[in-house]
Order: sequence, then structure tokens, then C-alpha cells
Amino acid sequence: MRIGVVGATGLVGGQLLRTLEDRGFPTGELRAFASARSAGRAVPYRGVEVLVEEATEASYEGLDVVLMSAGATLSRQLAPGIAAQGPLVIDNSSAWRNDPEVPLVVAEVNAAALAEIPKGIVANPNCTTMVCMPVVAPLHAEAGLVRIVASTYQAVSGAGIDGVGELAVQVASAGEKARELAWAGDSVDLGRARVFPQPIAFNVVPQAGSFVDDETDEEKKFRNESRRILALPDLDVSCTCVRVPVFTGHSVSLVLETSSDLAPERAVELLTSAPGVELAEVPTPLLSAGRDPTYVGRIRRAGDRPGRLAVFVSGDNLRKGAALNAVQIAEALVAQGKLG
Ligand SMILES: NC(=O)c1ccc[n+]([C@@H]2O[C@H](COP(=O)([O-])OP(=O)(O)OC[C@H]3O[C@@H](n4cnc5c(N)ncnc54)[C@H](OP(=O)(O)O)[C@@H]3O)[C@@H](O)[C@H]2O)c1
Repeated sequence: MRIGVVGATGLVGGQLLRTLEDRGFPTGELRAFASARSAGRAVPYRGVEVLVEEATEASYEGLDVVLMSAGATLSRQLAPGIAAQGPLVIDNSSAWRNDPEVPLVVAEVNAAALAEIPKGIVANPNCTTMVCMPVVAPLHAEAGLVRIVASTYQAVSGAGIDGVGELAVQVASAGEKARELAWAGDSVDLGRARVFPQPIAFNVVPQAGSFVDDETDEEKKFRNESRRILALPDLDVSCTCVRVPVFTGHSVSLVLETSSDLAPERAVELLTSAPGVELAEVPTPLLSAGRDPTYVGRIRRAGDRPGRLAVFVSGDNLRKGAALNAVQIAEALVAQGKLG
């Protein structure tokens, strides 16, 4: 397979290279692309240094598949042109996720949506939605999902390299001062927030993404993408997206309302055999970071009424939330004879 990775110098791009390598994806040729800032740099792939090319200047002819993770603006600009040159595009950004002519796919849930790829582009869902879907889908299949109420705990790596840098710098700059002030119960001045709307170290910020109306774009993505992936266009979804000072691993507290009652014991049974899911008594981002499955636990009734289940999930936003699912889509396309 001749593969292109656009955004190869980024967090997701780096993870894409490692995932392709770890899963032994058949690679005849690999080309790496990023911005002009990185052109001429090298990224490692299978023990070889691959020279980074400038994405906007390159030709993509001869490639079979291009995995893009360089933001929505660049995807809108480049993806149709790349697809017109031959390769299938699997895109990690939000650019194509609401386009009815672009399948939005979670490998374990709706790979059948890959049957038609009219634009030659497949969209990878947003990282928070993604880590929930392998858990939610089998419960929906059993009991009929009516409503999701979600509160997220999103890691800073969800905002890319700059997000990771901002938390690291704020933690380091607080140092001893933070300890003293914390004992006194005072607030700590961590300097200017740039990537996040407020200081993220030692804090919890109930604003992930930007406000569109009274909701953020992240909250809208969770609703719209859940509806598309589960093929439930009227699904009632309420989501509060919260950024927390965690480097990697998105967690979500989910209350799932179903049309028929689902006992927690039956949910455990279903999730034990669900692909891409592992049970954990207390799932945490640290448990999930660097690992493939979505971890699910704290499975219990939500309140006293039947038909409501509470679960807590944690999944690696860079792996299942991005790179792993993109590579799984490519693998599914190979298995379906659409690639290679
Ligand atoms: N982080 C996550 O958890 C996550 C999960 C799901 C989806 N995504 C999506 O994946 C994409 C990348 O995220 P990330 O976290 O990897 O971000 P990142 O660490 O900031 O990396 C961004 C990458 O995009 C490249 N890039 C930026 N502007 C470009 C341009 N004009 N031309 C060519 N390349 C350009 C950068 O190249 P340079 O190094 O040259 O600047 C870098 O390789 C975003 O669309 C994001 O929404 C991220």
C-alpha cells in the first residue's frame, strides 16, 4: 500500500505512524506531509527517517490512501483535490463529518457505511464521541437508545501539541508557589491562558471548544456525530464538554435512557463481548493512555426509574479517538476490496 500522512508532525500524525507500524499495515511506500514550517524535517517510520513534504505543494498521485490530521481548514482546502488524484482520503478533522456524502465511521459500530464513498473521503469522528460509541452501540442494539446525557472530562492533548505545552508550562511555572497557595486555599496565578480559555493546570474548565450559541462546537459535535453513527437522527443528546488537566485520555460520564429497561448485569454481559471495549472497575484516563480499548465501568442504574443506566468511559483520544480508528477504517477498506 502507498500511504500518505498529512499532519505527520502533529500529535495525531505521530500516533498514526506508530499505529500503522504496530498493526503491521502493509506499507510499500509512506510519504509524510505537514506545513511549510516542517518541510525538510524527518519523521520516523519503521526505523527509517521519512522526509516531510509541504502538504499544499505536493502531488498525491500514485498513493492509495491519505490519512489527514492537519485541521479542518486544510482538509476543506486539500481533501477533494487529493481524492481527485486517486487516493482515498481518511480525514480526522471536523471538515466532512456532517456531509451526507461522506461516511462517518467508527470501525466497530458502522463499518457498513463504507459501502458508498461518493467523494472519495471518509470522516473519522471527533475523539470524545469516538471513545463512547463502542460502548453505547451494543447497549442501544439491545434496549433502544432514547436519550444521552453526557459530561466529558477531556484531556489537553485533544487540543494538539499546543494544548499539551500549555498544561506542561503552567504546571512547571506554578511549582512551589502552587503548593504554598493551595495550602492557604488561595487561587494561583498561572499566567496567561492561550490555547484554553482559562488556566488549565489545577483547574477544571467547563468550556471545551468555542461557543456557537449557548453550546460549544464540541458539544454540538457530540450530538450530531452520535446521531449519525448510531443512525438515530432524532436522538435526544445533552452534553457538557469539560477540559481537565490530564495529558492524554478522554473520559465521559454517560447517562443512557433506553426504551426498554436494561439491567446493569445485562449491560456488563453485553460489554464484556463488545469489540473495542474492556471492563474496568474504575476507568481512568491514565489506564487508557497508550492503550487501544475504551475502558468502561461504574455501570449502574441512574436514579430510581427503569430504563436509565449510568456508565463511565475512558479512552485514549489520540489512539481510538483518532489514529487507531483511522487505521481500522483503512483495514476495513482493504478487507472490503476497496483499497489496494
Ligand atoms: N488531538 C486529538 O485528540 C484529536 C483527536 C481527533 C481528531 N483530531 C484532529 O486531528 C487534527 C490534528 O490534531 P493534532 O492534535 O495532531 O494537532 P497538532 O498536534 O497541533 O498537529 C497539527 C498538524 O497539522 C499540521 N498543519 C497545521 N497547519 C497546516 C497547514 N496549513 N498545512 C499543512 N499542515 C499543517 C501541523 O504541521 P506543522 O508541524 O508543520 O505545523 C501538524 O503536523 C485536527 O484536525 C484535530 O481536530 C485531534
